[in-house]
Amino acid sequence: MTAELDAIAQKMVADGKGILAADESSGTIKKRFDAIGVESTEENRRDYRELMFRSEAMTKYISGVILYEETIRQKAKDGTPLVSLIQQAGSIPGIKVDAGAKPQPAFPGETITEGLDGLAGRLKDYYDLGARFAKWRAVIDIDTAKGIPSYGSIRANAHALARYAALCQEAGIVPIVEPEVLMDGSHDIDTCYRVTEWVLKTTFEELYYQRVRLEGMVLKPNMIVPGKKSAKQASVEEVAEKTVRVLKSCVPSAVPGIAFLSGGQSDEDATAHLDAMVKLGGLPWKLTYSYGRALQAAPQKAWAGKAENVAKAQAAFTHRAHMNSLAALGQWSSEEERKAA
Ligand code: 13P
Repeated sequence: MTAELDAIAQKMVADGKGILAADESSGTIKKRFDAIGVESTEENRRDYRELMFRSEAMTKYISGVILYEETIRQKAKDGTPLVSLIQQAGSIPGIKVDAGAKPQPAFPGETITEGLDGLAGRLKDYYDLGARFAKWRAVIDIDTAKGIPSYGSIRANAHALARYAALCQEAGIVPIVEPEVLMDGSHDIDTCYRVTEWVLKTTFEELYYQRVRLEGMVLKPNMIVPGKKSAKQASVEEVAEKTVRVLKSCVPSAVPGIAFLSGGQSDEDATAHLDAMVKLGGLPWKLTYSYGRALQAAPQKAWAGKAENVAKAQAAFTHRAHMNSLAALGQWSSEEERKAA
């Protein structure tokens, strides 16, 4: 079992490949569809995700796909399970298993991610449906004037992440451990650094107490960036240097790979930051992408819900995946971006 877990984790972060986060909940996908004027029906959600899973990007640049509950049970228009499309492309199906971040009692403005009750049984079902990895997202906001984040919220979220990870490994499923420090707000980059350091230290302490096998997991962190409303934005080099520094001080080298979330960065920023980190070199783990928005914004816009735009949307998705694949190898450049566009 442990050898299989480790092999899956390594495949998830294979050279030049990364993860597509297509696990938007019903509420989130509705927001994305609203933005392109598409009604969020079960059929539209299926058609949209099917076009991605049938694109060239899947065989070349996507090691795994994080699915939502609905999608893991859905069939393509021709009746093929969507999970089979992913497997046929040589990619690994994964599943979001948390039940969302809910207001944490006694901690106004903070959330605790739910979903542990009954998780062992659900993981067994997901394994039978083909999932070989899972995702759980803890959400940490920054609002220093209000004392957010607090010790109690970070501790509770890290503990839940570790409980989830242990349950996954017991079920033969690789846990993606995602403690996301949000980039909303007006804090500066060094505040993001301090909070992320605290969150990662606490998360790895809890993973240790819950006896999680680090070789059989993938970490999905935020990068070290200033808040979107901060007056002082940061250069690509500063983001890369600070992100690598905090990860080196918090993430044991037994972890095979780190796959970043994009968190609301622009498509090109998310790519440029990853590329700059890989170019720094001398890293004890693989670095790659597990992007939602930064991989899907372009294809969503190109598709706009119209069947005649499917090929254009697939090309847009493949282009972003290709650029991020180059970044994960430290081979991206803005010239590369224009050449291929
Ligand atoms: P973004 O890349 O859009 O942040 O999404 C990744 C993800 O899975 C968030 O949980």
